[in-house]
Amino acid sequence: MARYIHMSDLHFWQVVRNPLKLLNKRALGNLNLLLRRRHQIKTERATGLLDLLKGLEIDAFLVGGDLTTTATEEEFRQAADFLGQLTELAPVYLVPGNHDVYTFESRRKERLEKYCFYWLPVEEGCSVDRLPGDVALLRISTARPNWISSRGHVPPEALALLPDLLQEEKGKVMIALAHYPVIPETEAYVMGLNRGLGNGGALRRTLGEGGRSLLYLAGHVHVYSHLQDPLYPSLEQITTPALFYDKSDKPGGFTEIVVEGSELEIRPWVFDQGWQRVTAVHSRNKISLSF
Ligand SMILES: [Fe+2]
Ligand SMILES: [Fe+2]
Repeated sequence: MARYIHMSDLHFWQVVRNPLKLLNKRALGNLNLLLRRRHQIKTERATGLLDLLKGLEIDAFLVGGDLTTTATEEEFRQAADFLGQLTELAPVYLVPGNHDVYTFESRRKERLEKYCFYWLPVEEGCSVDRLPGDVALLRISTARPNWISSRGHVPPEALALLPDLLQEEKGKVMIALAHYPVIPETEAYVMGLNRGLGNGGALRRTLGEGGRSLLYLAGHVHVYSHLQDPLYPSLEQITTPALFYDKSDKPGGFTEIVVEGSELEIRPWVFDQGWQRVTAVHSRNKISLSF
């Protein structure tokens, strides 16, 4: 048996006061922080969460990106400190989110790599690792900087590699980890043009026609959802909420995944006056991946 924790959209935040640092898209993100987000993202819950996770015997943490809010040095310092504490419990596997490359300046300075090098895949684009517990992990890069929008993109060279990567670690359950959902619209969320994955249709088709059952883990939409892809039944997708969110319609949470043979049990957690396991409305709870 192996137990994994999927968490995403941690959104560590810092209000920027220096106007020189606001001469880009960060001005928008900072305004959003001042008006709304700082009241909705309770990163002070990190300590209690670490105490809870210590008792769960976890084999690996799968972290879906958006570690920061406007990709400042201070936000990355907070995020790296938290990931460091997770690493003391179990290995951490990370993919970037759009807020980790929020401005072209943060991308140019490679701030994400500077603070999070240790947890990122060696290969950019997409790659396969073997997780403790003998499960294959396919990481797919879907984030890039934009002037205004929050659109994602899979590099074409990564897409071209995917059919071969889907053949790796045959005979094992395979989990895919990315920031953007591959299904643009479900009962639980609608991404829309501005927030969606640019070439998501091509990614979905490549994964769906790859001849391999796959559990695809994403964040970005900040709500829990779980469904079998109606177009490609071999594809199961879970979106996990923003970890520290505190909104009545979007409570914070993470997803526990227990793998036993080819059976996967999905246990969503939310924060409601404390961390608790719930039966989610959009959950299928128990799935079986054939391989
Ligand atoms: Fe996010
Ligand atoms: Fe995002």
